[in-house]
Amino acid sequence: MFIDSHAHLDDEAIASREDEIVSAAKEAGVGVIINASSDLPSSLASVALAERRKEVYAVIGVHPHEAKTYSDEVERELVRLSKKEKVVGIGEIGLDYHYDLSPRDVQKAVLEREIVLADELGLPVVFHVREAYEDFNEIIERNLSRFSHGALLHCYSGSAELAKYYSDKLDAYFSFGGVLTFAKHKDVVLRAIPKNRILLETDCPYMTPVPHRGEKNEPKYIPLIAEKMAELTGLSVVEIEKVTTENALAFYKVRV
Ligand code: NI
Repeated sequence: MFIDSHAHLDDEAIASREDEIVSAAKEAGVGVIINASSDLPSSLASVALAERRKEVYAVIGVHPHEAKTYSDEVERELVRLSKKEKVVGIGEIGLDYHYDLSPRDVQKAVLEREIVLADELGLPVVFHVREAYEDFNEIIERNLSRFSHGALLHCYSGSAELAKYYSDKLDAYFSFGGVLTFAKHKDVVLRAIPKNRILLETDCPYMTPVPHRGEKNEPKYIPLIAEKMAELTGLSVVEIEKVTTENALAFYKVRV
């Protein structure tokens, strides 16, 4: 069984095809899907999805793009939702300076609040970091005592050196998706990461792997990403399936 450790099934681009997408995932051997959130409405949608779908679990939180929507009231709602049985993490949280859809000082303040929140709730954090590693690392350094429940860098785009830094500082997990099939030099990054810290993800409906570029991404494409990961690491696809599933279950503390 494969696990899609980061999906957005509630995204309006694919939400209406939920039945078909979950069945196709199962047929492709993807038995668990972790649905990540981007703001309060999508956190509510993720929890509702997890409640009606046995194979779906929810990660709740406010994405850096939506940081400007964060408030005390949103935080109270996140705390309430976190008590639901199938909520397994806080995310995706972080910094995104590529689009700058929220002001940078707001992104930084909200990231720090959500790190503190996750620690208080005893949940692991799922990070989204894009073109903002310097400021991100500063916040990490200030909060080193707050990651005992686990930290994952989703769609990891940093260098091999940075990966070593996050391994040392956070004992971090790293997830990889469609980018593996179209970006260069990912083999160097993958080799820098311990095998017991690597996960597979789609980030669907975005980041569609080759040869389906231009289509909406779905969890059923996880085996394509696994094949590429196998090629880049020198492991077999069976080994990649086994190790990434064990890692995802361990990180999200999910029992199947
Ligand atoms: Ni995402």
